[in-house]
Amino acid sequence: MKTNDKLAKHVVIVVHGSLRDGDSYWSLMNDIFADLIKQGDARVDRNLIIVAPEFFSAEQNEGQYSSKQLAWPDLNLWQPGEASSRPKGLNISSYEAIEKLVDHFDNSSQYPQMKNITLVGHSGGGQLVNRYATLARKLPQNTHMRFIVADPSSSLYFTEDRAVTDKNIVDKAKCPLYNSYRYGFDNLTIPIYGGQSAQTGFKNYVTRDIVHLNGLLDTEVNGDQQCMAILQGGTQRISRNFSWWKYLNLIAGTGEDMRFFPGNFTNVPNWKHLYSGDFTPRLSIVANASHDVDQVFNSAIGNSALFDTDVLPGWRPEKPGQSTDSFPSAAIRAQVRFALFIPLVALTSIFLR
Ligand SMILES: *[C@@H]1O[C@H](CO)[C@@H](O)[C@H](O)[C@H]1NC(C)=O
Ligand SMILES: *[C@@H]1O[C@H](CO)[C@@H](O)[C@H](O)[C@H]1NC(C)=O
Ligand SMILES: *[C@@H]1O[C@H](CO)[C@@H](O)[C@H](O)[C@H]1NC(C)=O
Ligand SMILES: *[C@@H]1O[C@H](CO)[C@@H](O)[C@H](O)[C@H]1NC(C)=O
Ligand SMILES: *[C@@H]1O[C@H](CO)[C@@H](O)[C@H](O)[C@H]1NC(C)=O
Ligand SMILES: *[C@@H]1O[C@H](CO)[C@@H](O)[C@H](O)[C@H]1NC(C)=O
Ligand SMILES: *[C@@H]1O[C@H](CO)[C@@H](O)[C@H](O)[C@H]1NC(C)=O
Repeated sequence: MKTNDKLAKHVVIVVHGSLRDGDSYWSLMNDIFADLIKQGDARVDRNLIIVAPEFFSAEQNEGQYSSKQLAWPDLNLWQPGEASSRPKGLNISSYEAIEKLVDHFDNSSQYPQMKNITLVGHSGGGQLVNRYATLARKLPQNTHMRFIVADPSSSLYFTEDRAVTDKNIVDKAKCPLYNSYRYGFDNLTIPIYGGQSAQTGFKNYVTRDIVHLNGLLDTEVNGDQQCMAILQGGTQRISRNFSWWKYLNLIAGTGEDMRFFPGNFTNVPNWKHLYSGDFTPRLSIVANASHDVDQVFNSAIGNSALFDTDVLPGWRPEKPGQSTDSFPSAAIRAQVRFALFIPLVALTSIFLR
């Protein structure tokens, strides 16, 4: 389809996962949007722009980036916004790269019709969006910004409270870095965005348009398995998510009934006095999606997160007292194991953080 950038009203910036396969993410989004347009879905802008930035790993992608392109140390230090290591000496936070992209599309002389900027990240990209939404110093001036945090392995906690208290699972006392950045606000030293207080981060997070999008069947034990991550809700990503949602509601003093959500939180402080107006983050759960970006976004709930103002919430837990370990139910877990037999070949692109 022929599109015209000058008429574009919506841009979706999609951040890849740990495999740094921006091309697959771009194609996946493009296929989903093309299908919806074919079906006549009026929510999708006919001139929608999709951007999939590529965060190279200096080690793993050697030879794939030029001497003028940025690359980040280790596999995934672009996720928490650390400084680039190539070209040498520039030290640019991956968050500054995102900010520049956002500014580019917020420019009304180049994009006079632009209304919505959506920053989407799945898995490792979800980690980036969770932290960027917390630490970004400003929102765009001319456009509305939505953050979609899909299936991250861990979140940036504002306080030292954690979901897991059972020392047989993981012992906080033996996990000295559990509240260090990327997991908490200690040692937040990344360029430009470093040094901010947890209170500022909290205020940003609970007043921005953030949709947490999670596949309920994301129950395999993989992704980040360090003690800092396990303390956030056990070995499975999905329980860490539900625990994050519970924590967010507790600290923001929303008064929502969180009994059905896992997480042994006691004495979480109430920071309601730190923000005014509505609590804006949302939780949407795709009941039959695993840690698979296609299943998550190629669903009514995923489409809603991308295109609706009133985002569909999807699945909700119905039983009180579900603990991290028994959550989701054994029946759902069995279903996942079964489902995983078939797409073994596709797994490489699905897993990791
Ligand atoms: C960039 O980072 C390197 C390695 O961490 C450090 O030695 C150097 O001083 C930094 N440069 C700037 C301009 O911050
Ligand atoms: C917006 O884009 C125009 C045209 O490319 C450019 O001249 C201008 O500097 C940009 N404005 C901002 C604030 O970046
Ligand atoms: C939550 O607390 C209960 C009661 O102390 C304990 O039995 C359970 O193991 C804890 N669960 C986790 C995940 O810490
Ligand atoms: C602090 O952050 C730096 C840079 O990310 C890291 O190398 C160091 O291990 C961290 N130290 C602690 C105590 O977390
Ligand atoms: C949230 O749940 C998703 C499953 O959709 C999982 O991939 C992710 O790791 C979880 N993240 C956290 C912080 O719990
Ligand atoms: C999930 O359920 C919806 C509606 O029941 C269905 O259309 C979709 O194909 C299912 N997706 C998967 C991955 O099973
Ligand atoms: C688009 O922006 C409008 C505000 O101009 C907002 O109400 C709406 O929810 C946004 N839609 C999406 C999909 O972000």
